Amino acid sequence: MSENSFGRLLRVTTWGESHGPAIGCVIDGCPPRLKLSEDDIQPWLEKRRPGQSRFTTQRREPDEVRILSGVFEGQTTGTPISLMIENTNQRSRDYGEIARQYRPGHADIAYDLKYGIRDYRGGGRSSARETAMRVAAGAVARVILRELVGPQLVIRGALTGIGEQSVDRARWDWDEVERNPFFSPDAAMVPLWGEQLDAVRKAGSSIGATLEVVAEGVPAGLGAPVYGKLDAELAGGLMGINGVKAVEIGDGLGVAKLHGQENADPIRPSENPMEPVFLSNHAGGVLGGISTGQPVVARMAIKPTSSILIPVPSLTRDGEAVDVRTRGRHDPCIGIRAVPVAEAMMACILADQLLRNHAQCGWL
Ligand SMILES: Cc1cc2nc3c(=O)[nH]c(=O)nc-3n(C[C@H](O)[C@H](O)[C@H](O)COP(=O)(O)O)c2cc1C
Repeated sequence: MSENSFGRLLRVTTWGESHGPAIGCVIDGCPPRLKLSEDDIQPWLEKRRPGQSRFTTQRREPDEVRILSGVFEGQTTGTPISLMIENTNQRSRDYGEIARQYRPGHADIAYDLKYGIRDYRGGGRSSARETAMRVAAGAVARVILRELVGPQLVIRGALTGIGEQSVDRARWDWDEVERNPFFSPDAAMVPLWGEQLDAVRKAGSSIGATLEVVAEGVPAGLGAPVYGKLDAELAGGLMGINGVKAVEIGDGLGVAKLHGQENADPIRPSENPMEPVFLSNHAGGVLGGISTGQPVVARMAIKPTSSILIPVPSLTRDGEAVDVRTRGRHDPCIGIRAVPVAEAMMACILADQLLRNHAQCGWL
């Protein structure tokens, strides 16, 4: 069984556990002769790295990436690109109790039910430490997209809500996302979310969030009917991020409340027949599983951090009832650090679909 890989022509495999010596990934299928160095990857890892503000976990993970293969004299060679990050911040003592207790909301019980064995240190393979490698792979995917499509293809993510407090879309400003510790596109939410998270942390609790990833400048034609649809692959890839419990493309669940004339995006002619003008984007840039040239829009809901100080009833491995409080260093809202991970998944899926489109349709 091989369930640690995704992508067809750009195939990403991740490996490693939270408290093993290292985590890594292998990216197979990257076109040759693209400029690639650690400097293309490291900035994206910095964005995901914990400990950057008081609103994320204070675990210190330097997350220094090394390219082990697939690059020669600064260029990709067309052979598998292997990336590795050493785990330097393991504090196993934080996790001692979870060897015998199932942390509610975590994968502990599911791994034991399935495999009968689990690396309990920091959640092992189920830990979101693995998402660092998705971010690294996403950086390589961005290089491919930049080279093959151009700088007009821009992938950006933002946090759109924490708990009941959502951004006001009228105040959406992409530049603001870079200026605050929440990746909020709405400056007015920053102090409110700060107060909210301070209160949540003080209560020993955590809170859920919504986020959004938008890819602009995506060429028309990515995605293939009927089992390689772009929206289906995005939904699968984004749902595979730890803690994500819902994914919407475009208006998503909102379409249930619309009438046909409201939902159908009107199309108008333009000078370039290959670039029709859409007057709205309820579809989220995908029709029939194929990109239309409109921005590709995906939204996600991510659950509250399961590791909390408030006790929650659970079981020990021996089946005894126990109340579990999870000590250690955890994000009060994992939605924040999920933003760069979601961007990376979007980049990987688009790059894979781009290569597949070129394989079938040529460079149209
Ligand atoms: C970037 C990121 C960081 C995370 N950090 C934590 C954490 O510190 N504590 C925690 O309980 N869950 C954390 N999670 C979520 C868990 O990894 C996840 O809930 C758990 O593995 C169970 O998987 P599931 O929620 O997808 O079912 C994080 C998720 C992401 C995306």
